[in-house]
Amino acid sequence: MNVQVVMVSLLTLGMATAVWAEDAAKAEPAKTEAAGDAAKTADAGTVKDEPIKPLEAVTVKDEAKVELGKKLYFDPRLSKSGFISCNSCHNLSMGGTDNLQTSIGDHWQQGPINAPTVLNSSMNVAQFWDGRAKDLKEQAGGPIANPGEMAFTHELALDVLKSIPQYQDEFKSAFNKDAIDIDMVKDAIAAFEDTLVTPDAKFDKWLKGDDSALSETELKGYKLFKESGCVACHNGPAVGGASFQKMGVVEPYKTDNPAEGVGGLTKKDEDRFKFKVPTLRNVELTYPYFHDGAAKTLEDAVHTMGQLQLGKKFTDEETADIVAFLKTLTGKQPEFQLPILPPSTNETPRPEPFNKADKDKAKQKDAGAKADGKQS
Ligand code: HEC
Ligand code: HEC
Repeated sequence: MNVQVVMVSLLTLGMATAVWAEDAAKAEPAKTEAAGDAAKTADAGTVKDEPIKPLEAVTVKDEAKVELGKKLYFDPRLSKSGFISCNSCHNLSMGGTDNLQTSIGDHWQQGPINAPTVLNSSMNVAQFWDGRAKDLKEQAGGPIANPGEMAFTHELALDVLKSIPQYQDEFKSAFNKDAIDIDMVKDAIAAFEDTLVTPDAKFDKWLKGDDSALSETELKGYKLFKESGCVACHNGPAVGGASFQKMGVVEPYKTDNPAEGVGGLTKKDEDRFKFKVPTLRNVELTYPYFHDGAAKTLEDAVHTMGQLQLGKKFTDEETADIVAFLKTLTGKQPEFQLPILPPSTNETPRPEPFNKADKDKAKQKDAGAKADGKQS
């Protein structure tokens, strides 16, 4: 990669964040309505009274819609290049993330921010680090049209789907309509995402009364997590996801990443650097950490959290104990058959991964202001 390309990527990086935030400036982060679902716990009698609650498996309500949503989630033909699907950046073989500091989008563009996991994302109070989408359905249309991600348009994505008879049939059985529109696409993807819940972690077994489920170290780690005050922000069934909090309560967080969190949307000083508290479910799998992806290891993240959020300097042993506890939050990963996607037909628009003119256009659009209200 030559210097010029690097410079351009960096430019794109800075601007994309600012623009993404502006696009959604209308959306004050939604408040707790979504959290209701998350509060479901098993028979309260046997569950330990702790600030973290067990995660329950979900029952699929609408099989046809979920199956369709799964296909769409894995279908790279919803991107301009024909190469990038939701699963490219939220890889369900890797904890629902890409394990990159920031994601790679269309034309190898460097993304502005770390990709959060889609696992258990239905429990989030709102979506994105700054909460600019109120729920999964609102979120799902964004990446398809984001020039830095899948770089398509909703119209072209619909053209692709409409050209494939098997998709037509599946939309019909899921929605009882002969048409295909973007609202259905978002609805189906969100229905699939609702199923991406990871129950039966070691910690859940312990919460539900199996005292032998945790080792002494893991239990020590949990006590430290609770007593140090981590649970003030990381609590509930998702061990996070329920509120927006300042990154750097006691000491400021130093980063080159220009994202300002909720403050980028509201332009209020008190919101600067407030980010959605990430879920710590499956955190063992979702490295690297923080919105800028700067913490490479869990030890790193725990150390930073202790110091910046709580003014505590953990010893290496304390950090190791907390990390051992955090690893007990890895749950049963979603199990399903890899979807086999219906083939394109002769009428299906073909992908153009290497079109130079498109590349330049994408850059311009990215830099020039997505003033047309498209969010990521
Ligand atoms: C090029 C990489 C990329 C692709 C492709 C992509 N995403 Fe994302 N996704 C991200 C990044 C980066 C964020 C965080 C953006 C932010 O918060 O500003 C994100 C955020 C999300 C979130 C919010 C999670 C949370 O905890 O706030 C969900 C849900 C999500 N994406 C689902 C999807 C779906 C569904 C698709 C396919 C339609 C998709 N993503 C395609 C990179 C990607
Ligand atoms: C004041 C609220 C608050 C407290 C207290 C707090 N956290 Fe956090 N935590 C956050 C926020 C906000 C983030 C996201 C910060 C960012 O990305 O810039 C975060 C991120 C993390 C992450 C990274 C997760 C990811 O996917 O990127 C880990 C791990 C974590 N916290 C563990 C802890 C531990 C351990 C403690 C106690 C020592 C703790 N937190 C205390 C609010 C808090």
